[in-house]
Amino acid sequence: MGFSKNIIITGGAGFIGSHVVRLFVNAYPEYRIINLDKLTYAGNLANLKDIEDKPNYTFVKADIVDASQMKEIFDAYKVTDVLHLAAESHVDRSITNPMEFVMTNVVGTVNLLNSARDYWKGSYDKHRFYHISTDEVFGSLHNPEDFFLETTPYDPQSPYSASKAASDHFVRAYHNTYGLQVVLSNCSNNYGPNHFPEKLIPLMINNIQTGKPLPVYGKGENVRDWLYVVDHARAIDLIFHKGKTGDCYNVGGFNEWKNLDLVYLLCDIMDQKLGKEQGTSRKLITYVTDRPGHDLRYAIDANKIMNELGWKPSVTFEQGLAKTVDWYLSNSEWLQNVTSGEYQKYYSKQYN
Ligand code: NAD
Ligand code: TYD
Repeated sequence: MGFSKNIIITGGAGFIGSHVVRLFVNAYPEYRIINLDKLTYAGNLANLKDIEDKPNYTFVKADIVDASQMKEIFDAYKVTDVLHLAAESHVDRSITNPMEFVMTNVVGTVNLLNSARDYWKGSYDKHRFYHISTDEVFGSLHNPEDFFLETTPYDPQSPYSASKAASDHFVRAYHNTYGLQVVLSNCSNNYGPNHFPEKLIPLMINNIQTGKPLPVYGKGENVRDWLYVVDHARAIDLIFHKGKTGDCYNVGGFNEWKNLDLVYLLCDIMDQKLGKEQGTSRKLITYVTDRPGHDLRYAIDANKIMNELGWKPSVTFEQGLAKTVDWYLSNSEWLQNVTSGEYQKYYSKQYN
């Protein structure tokens, strides 16, 4: 069967990547979707069980840091476009092990850019390199009236955001220097099904369920802007197809929450769903030492993507959070496999 595009989606076994792969595989049977993932601790092919047998889906286990492997894959699959999501993504891990972030997020991105530049040479206008980034590159907001715009100067504060900022700069440099047709987006914090339980929302859901302490960093006053992951995937679809080459788009839900208020809300929802007396789970909240260099507030101004591409979130925070909690409650096997490490044993046997 001939496909109109052969698209690599890197990091497709991770949280956001798996939602993007599912959307593309289902919505575009005319595209071949190649999920390129190293299957680090954050990659879990169980996230894609429902689409793994589709004729337009292929999984390739590979490391974007390995330049010769990337070249082979471009040749073998006649890659026409790239959606680049693979990354080390957890700020706390970047504080204990920054070099892994430099390798995957910076070196890995440059390897991919080189492969795309070399393989598409002479026909750049027919191919697109879409780099998926984060709002954390803009740094930390202190004035409540301020929002991150596409024009906000970069000011990354953690090893994670510094590595993502570096990768964004390389992507722009390859557009400017070689003429590679790139597009970028910077999104706020995502939440939803398949989120690895080291991040705030799934960690709290898991700990409430198992009666463990709920570690709130510092006083819980930091603010994050939360977006349902499926709405991010919808934005990525629009930007890939309609975004202006060389441009970037900020994606966010105008949905700011102080960490402590969000944890209270999760406790109350979980008490209700688990048939516990209201207030039970709030007692699990434990204030712990703050993250070093903890960014105070992130808030995205998403007007550009809304006005230019007609995107808007499809669910309210209430709806998205309810869907998320329901998903975790009815997928306890997924959560157990992830927290016990079982998921890695199963797939490493299959792909090593
Ligand atoms: P994730 O940690 O859940 O998944 C990352 C995926 O990349 C995993 O499947 C992992 O196996 C794979 N990977 C890691 N290193 C690799 C390598 N060297 N080669 C190939 N594959 C590798 O991350 P996520 O939360 O889904 O984030 C995806 C992308 O979106 C990242 O680029 C991140 O910076 C960006 N982003 C995330 C958020 C968020 O809230 N999670 C918000 C905005 C932007
Ligand atoms: P996180 O989900 O790690 O995303 P990011 O740091 O990329 O925004 O954290 C979200 C917020 O929650 C952040 O301000 C740190 C805070 N946090 C806690 O208070 N306790 C926790 O156990 C975790 C993981 C995060």
